[in-house]
This record gives sequence, C-alpha cells and structure tokens, in this order.
Amino acid sequence: MADQTARAIAPAQGKLGVLCVGLGAVATTFIAGVENVRRGAAKPIGSLTQMGTIRLGKRTEGRAPLIREFVSLASLDDLVFGAWDPIPHNAYEAALHAGVLDKHEHIEPIAGFLKGIAPMPAVFEQSYVKRLEGVNVKTGKTKRDLAEQLRQDIRDFKKKHKCDRLVMIWCASTEIFIAPGPAHWSLDAFEKAMDANDPTVAPSMLYAWAAIMEGVPYANGAPNLSCDFPALEQLAKDKGVPIGGKDFKTGQTMMKTVLAPMFKARMLGVAGWYSTNILGNRDGEVLDDPESFKTKEESKLGVLEHILQPQLYPELYGKMYHKVRINYYPPRGDNKEGWDNIDIVGWLGYPMQIKVDFLCRDSILAAPLVLDLAIFFDLAQRAGMSGIQEWLSFYFKSPQTAPGLYPEHDLFIQHTKLKNTLRYLKGEQQITHLGIEYYQES
Ligand SMILES: NC(=O)c1ccc[n+]([C@@H]2O[C@H](COP(=O)([O-])OP(=O)(O)OC[C@H]3O[C@@H](n4cnc5c(N)ncnc54)[C@H](O)[C@@H]3O)[C@@H](O)[C@H]2O)c1
Repeated sequence: MADQTARAIAPAQGKLGVLCVGLGAVATTFIAGVENVRRGAAKPIGSLTQMGTIRLGKRTEGRAPLIREFVSLASLDDLVFGAWDPIPHNAYEAALHAGVLDKHEHIEPIAGFLKGIAPMPAVFEQSYVKRLEGVNVKTGKTKRDLAEQLRQDIRDFKKKHKCDRLVMIWCASTEIFIAPGPAHWSLDAFEKAMDANDPTVAPSMLYAWAAIMEGVPYANGAPNLSCDFPALEQLAKDKGVPIGGKDFKTGQTMMKTVLAPMFKARMLGVAGWYSTNILGNRDGEVLDDPESFKTKEESKLGVLEHILQPQLYPELYGKMYHKVRINYYPPRGDNKEGWDNIDIVGWLGYPMQIKVDFLCRDSILAAPLVLDLAIFFDLAQRAGMSGIQEWLSFYFKSPQTAPGLYPEHDLFIQHTKLKNTLRYLKGEQQITHLGIEYYQES
C-alpha cells in the first residue's frame, strides 16, 4: 500500500549513453559483460538492478517485484558505451590485455562489437598517475581548455549515438593523493584554478566539471578527489545533476563493512585488523606508486573508524590497530588475494582470531557495480534528485555525504537505505523492520 505521494519520474525512454573514463580492466569487463548478457550468453550476476527484488508492504502480503519492474530503469538493450583512455587500445584489445574474461567464451564472440569502441583522447597528465604513460592524450593551453574539449566530446557522442541521456563513470586509474584546498572551495576559485593550470586541479576533476556542466550525472569509482569538494558539489546542485562516489566497494572493504558491524552489534572488541592484498593487474601496478597508494589507503582506512565508533566504545575499539597494505604481484593478474587477520576480544577480555582469505576477481566484482551505478544515477536524474546521491553509498568505499554528515559504511544499512529510497520514490511504505503489528491483538 502506498503511504505517500510518488515522486514524478521521467520515463526511461530512448538510449542511455554510458561514458567510462578509462577503458581498462573494470570498464571492459563491464561493457563486454553487458553485451554478453544482452546476447543471452551469460547472467548479470552481482547486479542489483538486474537480479534484485524489493519487498513492498507487510511480510504477509507476498509482494516482492523485481526492482527493474518496480521502478522505471534503463534497459540493457538501451545502453551505448563510450570511453576516454590515454592508451589507444579499443575495447577488444583492452579486454584481452586486462585478461579478466575468457577470450574464447566472452570476448571473441563479441569481437566486432568491442572493436567498435575506441577510446577518445584523454585528459591525462602523468604527474597524477606516475606509473602510466599515455599517447592518446588531448593538448590544450589551459585545464579549462582541456575540460571544454571534454564537453565537446560529450555533445558529439550524444549526437552521434542518438542518446536521450548520458551518465559518466570514472573507471580510470587512481590519481595521486590531493587534499582539498583553496582551489576547491568555491566554483569561482575552481574555474580560476583551471585557467591558471593549478596543480591541485587533477584530470578527474576536469571530467567531473565537464560532465556536470553538460548536465550528465557523474560517479567516481576510484578513491581520488574528483567531485567531492564544495565547488563541484555546489555546481551539481545548481545544475540539477546527480554526483557521487567514491571508490567501488568490491573485495576486502566489502568484507570489512559486513564483519565490523557484526562485532559492534555483539559488543565484541577489536584489538587489531591487519589487511593485505596481492594483485597483479595494471591497477595494482598504479597502486604500487606510494602517492596513488596513499589515496587508496585513506579510502580503505576510514571504514572501520566510522563503523566501530571508538569515541562511543573506547574500551572495545579505542586502541585498535588498523593496517592496510596493497602489494603488486604480477603472477596473479586481476585475481586478487585479500587477506585479513582480525584480533577480536570477547567476554572478560579473552582474545580470539579470525582469518579471512578472499580469493576474488577484482573486475568481476566491480563490473556489476558500474552497471548499477550507471542505471541508478540515470534514475536519480530522471527523478530530479541533484547533488550528492548518498542513497547509492552501497556501492562505495568512501561514500560522499553532505557536509558535516558522517558516512554510513555498514553494507546492510546502505542496502536498506537504497531500497527505502526506491520505495520513497514510488510512494511505497518504508520498511522499518519494527514488526510489532504482527503481534498486536487489535
Ligand atoms: N576492480 C575493483 O575491484 C576496483 C575497486 C575499487 C576501485 N577500483 C578502481 O577502479 C579503477 C579502474 O580499475 P581497473 O582495474 O580497470 O584499472 P586499469 O588500470 O585496468 O584501467 C584504468 C584505465 O584508466 C586509464 N586512465 C588513467 N588515467 C586516465 C585519464 N586521466 N583519463 C582517461 N583514462 C585514464 C588507464 O590508461 C587505464 O586504461 C582504478 O582506479 C581502481 O583503483 C577498482
């Protein structure tokens, strides 16, 4: 039963262009995956928009439609893909290089389709991603000039592919760590900094600015500062454009945001949490550079503090030692090993240990997140939701929030938030899990 007015949502008619910044392992696994699913060759496992259902009303009502049938979402058949990358490989060559998908099963049958996706020249500077060299790169006198070229690319793509709407997702390498500074505080300062080629204006910020200026939702899948500062947050609100990030929550951090809430719920202490990763893909190589690693480290470290709240529970978490390492180890390719040692403390202070060894495939975990983000950011746009989309924090390691608000990291709080937002959009009752009505006499 609906208990409020549904929000007006423009229908998902026509084509949705998905512009990926970066055409590496994640982007090609996403694009090739969607095409395989469209051809009936594989299932979209891991995607909430494609496989998830949503409970409506009471548990006794038995209403649980598919999310994509409950709310108007872009269909896979309506997606068209574009990308920028400083490496000139088309999506076929890039997918082969990434080595994630089986060449014979999932790449060769769609080779023609993948070869048709060639990256546009990127806005790229090696000083922001030290371990990469790019040749497919734009030139321009100022950063504003480069950003204007991106705006032109966006318009050209939309026209060429006859898209009704667009979204942009940063699937590119992690840039060096940049703390928000004077260039980021206001739009005026940011635009002046673009004109002055200020080094604190990174390429990812130029993509974000260009997207917002063109009315295109922007999501950041990497941990670098990109749209998460006052200048672009304000611009997004002013232009009515959804933005969000950051850093896809896939492997080890996803596990952390499931386990840590359990420790807190049971009032178990944590003395230490040591996390290490080995991975051998290009992302691993980029993260081997200390400046890119620092960006990732910040994103991974914040999670436990926010979930465990040591300020509220000093006896349980006040002295917790948390360490995160990422080591580049080429033999593993995209198949990461995320290993955690957790020292927990129980009744009367007795120590116990938990070991987690997650043998995962990085891009296999990330690809469905890119799909869901593209589809939900488009929904947000059609529903007139502008600025930071905190309801999509389910997908991010460091969810962007309104100033002064701490992020919710607990995966299941995020999941509830997402589904309740969908219920809210459609005017359906929120699910609070109170459940007392099932036991009341009258
Ligand atoms: N796979 C996961 O589970 C996961 C999880 C969280 C975050 N991420 C992040 O997603 C991003 C992509 O990961 P990946 O494994 O695909 O990496 P990748 O190295 O395979 O691909 C990144 C691509 O981005 C390109 N690139 C770099 N700078 C660019 C720029 N300025 N403009 C356009 N393209 C640019 C690179 O040339 C490369 O082709 C990384 O930042 C990674 O940290 C991945």
